[in-house]
Amino acid sequence: MLDSFFQVPKMANRTTDYGIIVHGGAGSFVPGVGSEIAKRKSVLAKSAEAGYRILKKRGGSSLDAVEEAIRVLEDSEVFNAGSGSSLSLEGTVTADASIMAGNLSCGAIGNVSVSKNPISLARKVMERSDHILLVGDKDLIKFSKAIGYPVEPLSPSALRVLQYRRNLSTMEKGKVRAWPKNYKLLREYLEGSSPRPPEQADTVGAVAIDSTFNLCAGVSTGGRWLKLPGRVGDSALIGAGIYADNLSGAASATGAGEEIIRVSLCKSVCDFMRFGVDAQSACDAAIKILTDRRGVGTAGVVAIDKYGRFGASRNTEMLQRAFRFNSMSKSHVAVLPADKDPSREPPYLGDPRLKF
Ligand code: GLY
Repeated sequence: MLDSFFQVPKMANRTTDYGIIVHGGAGSFVPGVGSEIAKRKSVLAKSAEAGYRILKKRGGSSLDAVEEAIRVLEDSEVFNAGSGSSLSLEGTVTADASIMAGNLSCGAIGNVSVSKNPISLARKVMERSDHILLVGDKDLIKFSKAIGYPVEPLSPSALRVLQYRRNLSTMEKGKVRAWPKNYKLLREYLEGSSPRPPEQADTVGAVAIDSTFNLCAGVSTGGRWLKLPGRVGDSALIGAGIYADNLSGAASATGAGEEIIRVSLCKSVCDFMRFGVDAQSACDAAIKILTDRRGVGTAGVVAIDKYGRFGASRNTEMLQRAFRFNSMSKSHVAVLPADKDPSREPPYLGDPRLKF
């Protein structure tokens, strides 16, 4: 009886031929970012379109589409990834990223500042090594040189440095909310201060399905603001920040990495999909588990199931995202809580909700 859950779907059962959904993080709506909204929407649309262009080409793979879409987000300086990465407590920038194809090939990097596009370095780990996760600059420099991949220091943008200074200067005023156990440690790192890590978490990611039924998921982040140096989050961990399996679906998460890791969020979404639950219901179910166990305001997740149905769910105020698949004439973007969101329910080919 279980056999039917493990089969690749027939073409007739699929809702779409190819498509991509990208995200730019989940979190609270931060007052004052109003002027940034248009920019965020435009970058998300550019990212979805970049991935979609690859999927549209004959032989365009979901792996290439996900990598390219995430590179656009990493290069934008708008989200917390690549050039827009947040800073650690010591003012350093270190990234985590991972990518996984539906045949279970995967690669990841953690705590790395030697690549401007961490998602591409994660793909290199997948394709050029026998390992899944490599961590730390020293060893990633050696690996990059060994495979002829450029070593390009990831430096913080001017805006992120300003935000870092502002965060530090306001630390003493706030109570520690996010990391109560780190409180004493933080005092060691910054003598005399009482840090309060901000809630903002604009990790980026993408999931895609191509015309040969192959799925892929990817994610990239600078991690959480004012994290302890050495911290590695969910975005480097297969099953937590991403998961993909052609027999179930693909998922990419964003939010508080420590919480996402505790519930293996993306593997949970994919397990629901494997047993026949559609992408939207699977995202909702996995987010409900996280909310029940760890509370609201912790994460968001996007997914595509093996039939090509899309889903997006969150327990945060915002989940910034864009998607496009081949029945749509342009990508749809949702950033603000009030933005119309047809990805809330599984769309289908010719669905009137997609005519916008
Ligand atoms: N979700 C990204 C992080 O917590 O590092």
